[in-house]
Amino acid sequence: MSIRAKLTISFVAVIVLVALIMGVYQAQLLDQLFKRIASRQMVLLAERVEPLVKSLDVPVTDAKALRRFLSGLASISESRVLLTDDRGTVIADTAEGANSLVGQNVPVRLISKAIQGTGLDRFDFPMIGPDAVGVAVPWWTGERVTGVMIIVRSLKQISSTANREVVASLIRAGILASGVTLVVGLVLSRSITNPLKKMAGVARAISRGEFSQHIEADSADELGELASAMNVMSQEISRLVEGLTEEKNKLRRVMEERQKMLSDISHDLRTPVTSIKGFAEALTDVINTEDDRRRAIGIIRDEAERLSRLVEDLFFLVRLESGELPFPMSRSDLAKVVRDTVARMEPVARERQVVISVDTPTSPVAATICEDRLVEALCNLIDNAAKYSPPGGEVQVSLSVSDGNAHISVSDQGPGIPPEDLPHIFERFYRGDKSRSGRKPGAGLGLSIARFIVEKHGGTLDVESRVGHGSTFTITLPLEKS
Ligand SMILES: Nc1ncnc2c1ncn2[C@@H]1O[C@H](COP(=O)(O)OP(=O)(O)OP(=O)(O)O)[C@@H](O)[C@H]1O
Ligand SMILES: [Mg+2]
Repeated sequence: MSIRAKLTISFVAVIVLVALIMGVYQAQLLDQLFKRIASRQMVLLAERVEPLVKSLDVPVTDAKALRRFLSGLASISESRVLLTDDRGTVIADTAEGANSLVGQNVPVRLISKAIQGTGLDRFDFPMIGPDAVGVAVPWWTGERVTGVMIIVRSLKQISSTANREVVASLIRAGILASGVTLVVGLVLSRSITNPLKKMAGVARAISRGEFSQHIEADSADELGELASAMNVMSQEISRLVEGLTEEKNKLRRVMEERQKMLSDISHDLRTPVTSIKGFAEALTDVINTEDDRRRAIGIIRDEAERLSRLVEDLFFLVRLESGELPFPMSRSDLAKVVRDTVARMEPVARERQVVISVDTPTSPVAATICEDRLVEALCNLIDNAAKYSPPGGEVQVSLSVSDGNAHISVSDQGPGIPPEDLPHIFERFYRGDKSRSGRKPGAGLGLSIARFIVEKHGGTLDVESRVGHGSTFTITLPLEKS
């Protein structure tokens, strides 16, 4: 059963119950009230009749006059009237036939005041009926009480008529109240169930992953509170799901990267190992001449060196990224660091028949850096520039300061980097087109190491390159004000 039906039925049931309880109480109350009023009226009547009886002075023995008087009184007051003698024996009764009490005795204690002439007696009169009330009036003959006149009425009839009317009007009121409650209940319960239905719809939408739905929370009651709580919940879930999706994608990217790195590593390891193995086998089996032997040993040495550099680079990168390598920062003169690095790289350049020129400010450029690591990054850039420059080429290394930043750039006159390679050259193991870079040795780790180090310093490593016009790599480092 819907909440709406339950609420409406409850409203109506409560109203009917309340009407019923009030009806029963009120009927009882009215019954008592009517009886009290009726018996009070009888006493008033008796008080008026007493002086009349006294002034008429009808002797109890005058049966005819008595009957006329009693029947006259009975019809005016709509009551039954009896007359007893001074000992309580009924001598006249307006009720006739089988009902007549003539000859029977009314207990004297009920009418004692009237017999003594000291006042009126009002009493329940079960001899006549269960709800009969009698009022006894002294019957004066001269100055003496010769009998007692009893005016009797049944209150049952009066109260049952009144009760019927009360019950009928209560039923009418009850039906009217139930009707009104039904209408009010339906309207009221709709104002509760409609927002609930909307919320259920939104909850279902949320469970389908639709978070855009919003519940109008304009009422200031508990339903409004619930609606705004649901809106907040929906936003939170949406945020959470977004975060989780992002995390999931990130994780997938990391997994893919790991996978790629593993296959790159195994590929890069396999090439020199295969070569070493092949030449080692040839040395033992087929190579006879001294020249071939020397050549094979030279290749084995070169390949072993390549292998060892690759492993070292990898080891360095892994330790760098995992934070294992210390990164002690200290105040240094960047100009000196650049000049020293260039000097250190000169033999490498010379071996490749490349000239390096350096241009730094003459005054010191103070910066907080990890010198060993920054030198490593700069070496990688100079190494690339020298490696990819044609023999006789020139590599320019310069340091300048502007806008609170130091810019270290390494330019070469090499082949340049094709636009499609540019977004990837900083990725681990990424090597440009082999046909273009020829058989230049390398694992594709130098730039990713350099970028990691520079970013650790809060700086950036950028590249500008045009095919056929050389490349310029620029390290930008923030110099804090001192
Ligand atoms: N100065 C440059 N001129 C032309 N191409 C470059 C230059 N520097 C880098 N590249 C391209 O970017 C790629 C990635 O460079 P990176 O230094 O990471 O690797 P690598 O030099 O190939 O190997 P490694 O540095 O590990 O010995 C190179 O393979 C090359 O194709
Ligand atoms: Mg390199």
